[in-house]
Amino acid sequence: MDKHDDAIRKRYDRASLFYDIMEAPMEMMAFEEWRIQLMSELKGKVLEVGVGTGKNIAFYPDGLDITAIDFSEKMLAKAKIKAMQNNKKVNLLQMDAQKMDFPGNCFDMVFTTCVFCSVPDPIKGLGEIRRVCKPDGKIIMIEHVRSEKAVLGLIMDVLNPLVVNMHGANINRRTVESIRMAGFAEIKVTNLWSDIVKKIEIVNIKDSI
Ligand SMILES: C[S@@+](CC[C@H](N)C(=O)[O-])C[C@H]1O[C@@H](n2cnc3c(N)ncnc32)[C@H](O)[C@@H]1O
Repeated sequence: MDKHDDAIRKRYDRASLFYDIMEAPMEMMAFEEWRIQLMSELKGKVLEVGVGTGKNIAFYPDGLDITAIDFSEKMLAKAKIKAMQNNKKVNLLQMDAQKMDFPGNCFDMVFTTCVFCSVPDPIKGLGEIRRVCKPDGKIIMIEHVRSEKAVLGLIMDVLNPLVVNMHGANINRRTVESIRMAGFAEIKVTNLWSDIVKKIEIVNIKDSI
C-alpha cells in the first residue's frame, strides 16, 4: 500500500470513533431505507467491499455466504461488534479493495455503499470488483457523487479538500464515469436523492470491455 493509500486508511481508523454518530441523521432520513432495499436483493455468494463500521450487517439476509472487506482495521473492529450483536455470520477480512486476495469469478454479487468516494484509485478498485465477480453476476452500488448542477458542483469542488482531510471521503467523485472507464458495459443508474446519491446496478459483467 502506498503512502497516500495509507493516509486514507488511517483517516478511517480515526473516523471509526465518531463515524456512526456523525452519520446518524442521514441514516434516519433515508440511508437506512436504501440499505434495507439493497440487502433484500442479495443472492448467492456475496462480497461487500468497504464494509466500514458494518451499517449494512443488521440487514444482511440470513442464510447467505457473505464476505465483507475493509482496509481500515478500526472500522472493521466496529463491524465485528455489529455482526456479533446482530447474530450475523459474515466473513470479515482486512483487505485492500484495489488488490484483493480472492481468485477471479468467485462472487455471485458484489455490493458497496458509500465506498467509491474514498477508494484512493477508483478505477483499480472497480477493476478488482470486475475480476472477482462472476461473468453472470451482479454488482450493486449506492454511492454519492458530484452534482452536475453548475453551482452545487462547484461548491462540492471547493469544499472537497476540506472534507477529504477531515474524513477521507471525496464529495466530488464522478463515480458513474469511473465505472464506464473501468470497462463495464451494462450500467443502470437511478437517482435516489437529487443527482447526488445514486443506485448503480451493473450486469452482464462478461460483456465488459
Ligand atoms: C464512507 S465509508 C462507508 C462504509 C460503509 N460501506 C457504509 O455504508 O457506512 C468508506 C469505507 O470504505 C473503506 N475503504 C476505502 N478505500 C478502501 C480500500 N481501498 N480497500 C478497502 N476498504 C476501503 C474505508 O476504510 C471506509 O470504511
